Amino acid sequence: MKSIAVFTSGGDSPGMNACLRAVVRTAVYHKLDVYGIRYGYDGMINGDFVKMSASSVANIIHRGGTILKTARSKEFMTPEGMKKAAEQLNKHSIEGVIAIGGDGTFRGAVEFRKHCNIPFIGCPGTIDNDLAGTDYTIGFDTAINTAVNAIDKIRDTAESHNRIFVVEVMGRDAGLIALYSGLGAGAEGILIPETKNDLEVILEKLSRSRSDKKSKIIVVSEGDEAGGAFAVSEKIKENFPGADVRVSVLGHIQRGGSPSCMERVNAGRMGFAAVDALMQGRSHEMIGIVKGSISYTPFANAVKLQPEPDADFLRMGKILSS
Ligand code: F6P
Repeated sequence: MKSIAVFTSGGDSPGMNACLRAVVRTAVYHKLDVYGIRYGYDGMINGDFVKMSASSVANIIHRGGTILKTARSKEFMTPEGMKKAAEQLNKHSIEGVIAIGGDGTFRGAVEFRKHCNIPFIGCPGTIDNDLAGTDYTIGFDTAINTAVNAIDKIRDTAESHNRIFVVEVMGRDAGLIALYSGLGAGAEGILIPETKNDLEVILEKLSRSRSDKKSKIIVVSEGDEAGGAFAVSEKIKENFPGADVRVSVLGHIQRGGSPSCMERVNAGRMGFAAVDALMQGRSHEMIGIVKGSISYTPFANAVKLQPEPDADFLRMGKILSS
């Protein structure tokens, strides 16, 4: 193998740059040519390839976002788009590709295999932590710390005014950001899409809550079946007409910021392992970290089997929030 390419795709996440740095420097160490593809699959289609060197990834380990830029490509989802992308990879004599992204990125890679037989290896980059085959995705640790810091601040004002705050966090289909940030912030209620009827449970709990603690924090995942924070807040007001309820939607601040140390180290491990995997002849697998060790999961399984939240976690959350 002489030449590989790397790209970031889908929603950016803190730590993508640390992963990219590891990919480029490992490839350079093995005397491989390495190209960065800008703007994800869109850049692959448009031939937006840049030759990278060890120095082109200097001073990025601490930066959020992705220096390669990213996109959610619609054109790549068409056979014509995939054909163009394959032509560009062949034109640049690319023999292996490393994709840093989430479920959409890996679903794209599975489909692309029908049009292009160049090996692909994935590194899980998404704040949602919603891929099977890894305990951890790049960006999750930083995102939950960003969320918990914001909720701590909201707690100060909630407590001063005896208010109920409904805080919405990201996680389109997965509630792990809500679960971890809610547990970390000591929230009185956590609503996630993986468990049904949590709103009824929370309303019931509010009706018998301790009189010495009037402020409450309810963390709701954007993907919860009860709707977003505004819908939840309306339900609370309907049930408790006297309650002073406010909403805070944390939004994209959870996607930005300098990655945590854990994020940088794990992202580096996965980028390093991804180059090794390509050199060993592996293909269409996602690198993960399971119980502290590097793991390999076929893309199709990584996107199919959504990790379920640990039942002990859910039970602990209910008991500690009383
Ligand atoms: O997948 C990561 C994520 O941040 C989700 O949590 C969120 O639902 C989505 O991306 C938002 O995507 P966009 O920035 O394209 O609106």
